[in-house]
Amino acid sequence: MSDSTATPAAPAHQPRCVLVTGGAGFIGANFLLRMAPRCPGVTWVNLDALTYAGCLLSLEPIQGLPNYHFVRADIADAEAVRAVFAAHPITTVVHFAAESHVDRSILDPLAFVRTNVVGTATLLEAARAAWTAGGGFAGRRFHHISTDEVFGSLGPEGAFSETTPYDPRSPYSASKAASDHLVRAYHHTYGLPTVLSNCTNNYGPHQFPEKLIPLCIANAAAGREIPVYGRGANIRDWLYVEDHCEAIERVLRYGADGETYAIGGQCERTNLELVHLLLDLVDEALGRPPHTSRALIRYVADRPGHDFRYAMDIGRIRETLGWAPAHTLEEGLAKTVAWHLGNPAWLAAVQDQSYRSYYETQYGRRLTDAGR
Ligand code: NAD
Ligand code: TYD
Repeated sequence: MSDSTATPAAPAHQPRCVLVTGGAGFIGANFLLRMAPRCPGVTWVNLDALTYAGCLLSLEPIQGLPNYHFVRADIADAEAVRAVFAAHPITTVVHFAAESHVDRSILDPLAFVRTNVVGTATLLEAARAAWTAGGGFAGRRFHHISTDEVFGSLGPEGAFSETTPYDPRSPYSASKAASDHLVRAYHHTYGLPTVLSNCTNNYGPHQFPEKLIPLCIANAAAGREIPVYGRGANIRDWLYVEDHCEAIERVLRYGADGETYAIGGQCERTNLELVHLLLDLVDEALGRPPHTSRALIRYVADRPGHDFRYAMDIGRIRETLGWAPAHTLEEGLAKTVAWHLGNPAWLAAVQDQSYRSYYETQYGRRLTDAGR
């Protein structure tokens, strides 16, 4: 895998006080764990509603840093979001918060419309109002984190790029597409300084074990069945989350105003190929005979409307911002397996729901309190 090349000389944006939404989720937590210790002169405000996917335990290493603050709030709650902008001199928004799981979107689409569409609109409006009242848009930036799934489903050939027409096909991807359109509309209509990145499937530490990779690791380690949808022939492109966080930092600091960046791992596999590779790594790490866990695979009913293939052309970010993924799939999966097997307490807390009480002991409020 090629290494990242040179970044542009002059930053386009210098964050001073960053509102990170969804920072207790998988990618947001990895981003904060990377950025808050590295940038002590920057304030990091994590706004998260702590849904089932929000795990403050993941952020324990930065919990006591003076430049890190947590606010429990819902991005769709206009008053709560306005209060955060009033309390902190926010220069920068990095917007991760979302309902993120396709299977849940099929069961409860309105939750996705509420958070991903109404929540993003509420956040954009709060940023526009606060920044307009507070001296204008100069030195401000709103970075919206999105997905390749907004572009639809590919056949065996080709790849999505920044110019691919939108064609979302699940309630999740439709709600993310709507949020992307709102971000673009705020740039074109009001001149809000935005950047947008659309990324392929992430994996790595702290991912909630409803997603394929952490689910496989947890089930294989426990000797439980591994559900593979259909025949496992669908194809995804996988990116190690640290590489995604590096790409986000580049886009945030060096990306051009109003621009979109396609991000991907250049690691396409069928789901069955991926599951085999992953289970073999788990077996090796646990000292089991080769292929032991493959016997746990169960082919189950396919996801309705299951997109066949995603892939990204990363030419723009590679050429203009000097970013390319640093991990091969094998390297990233090995690190991910090692992290999950090395952190059984995290997985146990997430599985038995005891991670929910971490907020209560740290912040002295019930998780059922108002604030979401
Ligand atoms: P996640 O589900 O792990 O975390 C989402 C976080 O958002 C949680 O902490 C949750 O508590 C919070 N949240 C949910 N609803 C909220 C609300 N109404 N108000 C405030 N906070 C709320 O998600 P993730 O996998 O970390 O994804 C983060 C972002 O990246 C999402 O926008 C997703 O669409 C995008 N993305 C994810 C992937 C991937 O493979 N995971 C790939 C591309 C893009
Ligand atoms: P997932 O991790 O849910 O990400 P996304 O749907 O956003 O791509 O699923 C990745 C792929 O794995 C997808 O093609 C669906 C498939 N899958 C399974 O085969 N079994 C499972 O239990 C899950 C959760 C997903």
